[in-house]
Amino acid sequence: MTAYPKRLIEVDLPIARISAHARREKSIRHGHISTLHIWWARRPLAACRAVICAALWPDPADPLCPPAFREAAVVALTAFAKRVNPDLLTEESRQLQETLSDESRGRWEALAAGTLTLDLADETTGFMLRMCLLDFIADFANWDNSTVPAYLETSRALTQAAHEALGGAPGTRPLVVDPFAGGGSIPLEALRVGADAFASDLNPVPVLLNKVVLEYIPKYGKRLAEEVRKWGKWIKREAEKELAEFYPKDPDGATPIAYLWARTVLSEEPIADRAPVEIPLLRTMWLSKRKDFTFALRWVRDKHGHVVTENAVIQWGGPRCLDQKASFLRETGFQPVSPAGEGRGAAQSSVARRSGAAALTRRDPLNFTHARAFGPATTSAPRYTSHGV
Ligand SMILES: C[S@@+](CC[C@H](N)C(=O)[O-])C[C@H]1O[C@@H](n2cnc3c(N)ncnc32)[C@H](O)[C@@H]1O
Repeated sequence: MTAYPKRLIEVDLPIARISAHARREKSIRHGHISTLHIWWARRPLAACRAVICAALWPDPADPLCPPAFREAAVVALTAFAKRVNPDLLTEESRQLQETLSDESRGRWEALAAGTLTLDLADETTGFMLRMCLLDFIADFANWDNSTVPAYLETSRALTQAAHEALGGAPGTRPLVVDPFAGGGSIPLEALRVGADAFASDLNPVPVLLNKVVLEYIPKYGKRLAEEVRKWGKWIKREAEKELAEFYPKDPDGATPIAYLWARTVLSEEPIADRAPVEIPLLRTMWLSKRKDFTFALRWVRDKHGHVVTENAVIQWGGPRCLDQKASFLRETGFQPVSPAGEGRGAAQSSVARRSGAAALTRRDPLNFTHARAFGPATTSAPRYTSHGV
């Protein structure tokens, strides 16, 4: 196999420190790319930033590491240590001091004070440089440092030096290619540390996300935010107009703040002249179980405890529906309650269970087999119902 200078990631990585930053990043709610759009498998930026640096930068302790990279690393890291210098009373050095890990503090301070020197004539300096680079990577993984100029400028200088020392044409930048870019963590971090990025994905949603993050935001800046706000308002207005009929106001004029959607089944064949009851298959009646704010839905019942139903005519439809006739049925109603004591138990009862569905009233049976068979085996398509709360 051809010998080559190993990259840092092939010899070591401060995983414990990087992981701690990656875990903390999950609770960040401001300025993080995850607040722009959800992407379910987005990787933590902390981990991506660290891995990209460690994959782009050679290991200075490797005998095949280009001397030009070692020399550039000495310059960049010594300058970085001077910016960390605890004697400096700048805003930047305060920020750098506050976010140093215990492992790296002593090394940067010794470098700044001159008690540690990076002399390339000394053959142990390669290992010391490796330790400094790993410390740098570990602390740069901290979200609070992701926009600090000392970290950005040092990482970009190291990326450029590595690229040119490893054969890249002067003035060009290394290219990080991510063909499964998803939420865009890897290309975003590649740009941050001074590489060019190419992102693609099978799914058009991440393609748009990456276009926005990597192209539109750098190109249009604040204007983009203003346009998005303007057209977002327009879409909201138009959607409200078009969809208003599906989201009626409550009888008292109040606007529902949320809707519960449930698939419905009909109780079994009507007895005598009773139409079947349309039963929403709700798994739970709870809306909030917070200790100081318990709320649940309850069927509206009469004084005998029977669930109250109202006659309704439903026009069955949809592609799976063979018979497009209208059906007469009875609909149930809910009311919100704040259950306490025994009521809490009642709120837990719901009609849909793993084993099937329970009937609401004794007179409108709903046996399990019937509930399961409803839909595919009948000529009527299953219907969904919604209730505003
Ligand atoms: C785990 S996610 C990537 C997450 C990404 N690294 C991030 O941090 O957001 C995997 C991505 O690969 C994409 N993908 C899966 N199969 C693919 C294929 N054959 N070609 C291109 N993209 C594909 C998926 O659409 C998904 O966005």
